[in-house]
Amino acid sequence: MIPPDLRGRRKRDPFWVAVSVAFNGMQRVRGLRAPVIPYVEPVDRTRDLVVLEVRREAEDVVSLRLGAPDRGVLPGWQPGCHLDVFLPSGRRRQYSLCGDPSDRRTYRIAVRRLPDGAGGSVEMHGLAKGATVTVQGPRNAFPFLARDRYLFIAGGIGITPILPMVAAAERLGADWRLIYTGRTRASLPFLDELPSGRVLIRTDDEHGVPDGADLVEGVADGTAVYCCGPAPMIDGVRASVGEGATLHYERFAPAPIVDGRPFEVELRRSGRTLAVPADRSALDVIRDELPAVAYSCRQGFCGTCRTAVLAGEADRRSPGDPDGGSMLICVSRATGGRITLDL
Ligand code: FES
Repeated sequence: MIPPDLRGRRKRDPFWVAVSVAFNGMQRVRGLRAPVIPYVEPVDRTRDLVVLEVRREAEDVVSLRLGAPDRGVLPGWQPGCHLDVFLPSGRRRQYSLCGDPSDRRTYRIAVRRLPDGAGGSVEMHGLAKGATVTVQGPRNAFPFLARDRYLFIAGGIGITPILPMVAAAERLGADWRLIYTGRTRASLPFLDELPSGRVLIRTDDEHGVPDGADLVEGVADGTAVYCCGPAPMIDGVRASVGEGATLHYERFAPAPIVDGRPFEVELRRSGRTLAVPADRSALDVIRDELPAVAYSCRQGFCGTCRTAVLAGEADRRSPGDPDGGSMLICVSRATGGRITLDL
């Protein structure tokens, strides 16, 4: 196999390069127009990285600095990008990059330990300096756009994608402010990295739990509102932000199911049929029976839970779920009363 270059790109396969050159040459000899077969190079964005540093950033929060085993140059990224991390257990998790995009040799991510979660954060906290993890990306599902005015709203560990956005807004000379919320000051990571003067720290123990209206109060028309944090916070901001502002947000938890109808899911290979109630996803119901079923974002964008559909139709609730032969079981639901999956 041809090894990838430093950016993880595969070199051209000599056979297909030769075919492409020969075909293009023949087309030219024949005097045909449009002689080019575009050669699309496959990009392998999977790589092993080494944990170079682990730092405690707040209560239950550590940051991990990752680098290539040879300390080589890593693919570039922009504020809002995340890495998919494949843990030794096989779990796959997404973490926003929260370092400096101009640092091309290390990535920084941060993880809050959730003892009652699905196990990924506990496993991440068990990684020590020198450990190796496999990652994919960076990918950007939360793009940062150049605007004149920003309101950033971060809830706890939701500061991670916001941190490089704040730095970028500062570099742009934009008019920005940040509202940073959490239970207590001790639970908020990276307080020491935030520029002073434009940041409002709002903790539940000092100020009470804010609602959406509190967070977007006084936001001017034309403001780009970037929000990342727990689902109730995002839902509150969505409900309260006026039409004059544009809202960009990233969730750390699945959105509530809207207009869900109950259906049955038949798992053909497992020989089981399960009832999916209106307020649960097919993924959650299936995981009760098959805990090892693969998933990651639970929001319909990573594609990890894509499963072949053997009979029935799905309602395609995510723009990333257009394929009739399969469905994203974390978000999409059966259109009829039953769907059969290859599980
Ligand atoms: S788990 Fe990410 S798309 Fe379903």
